[in-house]
Amino acid sequence: MSEDHYFSAQPASADERRTISVSLAGRELELETAGGVFSPGHVDLGTQVLLRTVPEPRGRVLDLGCGWGPLALTAALRAPDAVVTAVDVNQRALDLLRRNVARVGARHPLAPIEAVAADEVDPHARYDTIWSNPPIRVGKDALHALLRTWLPRLAPGGEAYLVIQKNLGADSLAKWLSAQAPDAGWGAVEKIASAKGFRVLRVDAA
Ligand SMILES: C[S@@+](CC[C@H](N)C(=O)[O-])C[C@H]1O[C@@H](n2cnc3c(N)ncnc32)[C@H](O)[C@@H]1O
Repeated sequence: MSEDHYFSAQPASADERRTISVSLAGRELELETAGGVFSPGHVDLGTQVLLRTVPEPRGRVLDLGCGWGPLALTAALRAPDAVVTAVDVNQRALDLLRRNVARVGARHPLAPIEAVAADEVDPHARYDTIWSNPPIRVGKDALHALLRTWLPRLAPGGEAYLVIQKNLGADSLAKWLSAQAPDAGWGAVEKIASAKGFRVLRVDAA
């Protein structure tokens, strides 16, 4: 299965489930993945770079484009007092994350994670922390629309952290984000890390 379709609502590839061993928030975990979702065999390198860079999540946390859940699960393990919302268009990814929440929650203290499609989220909900390895491959217009929808939902004082591959346009996205602020509903944009071909951007609330 090519990654080109990881952002389908209903992936065409066979839904063959498997378990993988991963380390998240210092815990060794057995998690469920499947073809037709992003990076089904391991925690993506960009996701790893993001997780090594971000400060502790707090409050209401949004994982934008959650896939099978490495960011949402890490946030919920690191901050059991948080409340995590994880959104994706891919229904298979959402199902995997719900199953992974049950697996991890059976063994570890875990903040509640709601794994839902974007249109199931209350548009008035606000977030203190947004973590995202955003879907660059959906194309620039769709990516910009996604960020225009969710970044203005940062609560006052909130922060979003985005990881983007340098050769997939991290610097031009940073420029676009800066140029849109503050009218688009967010504040300062800063490159806070660069590692292994990825950049991590921090976007402040408006
Ligand atoms: C690069 S993957 C990251 C997945 C996961 N967070 C990780 O780190 O492995 C981006 C995710 O965004 C999802 N996505 C694409 N378009 C979306 C949209 N409009 N709203 C929410 N999620 C979307 C894709 O289905 C995919 O799971």
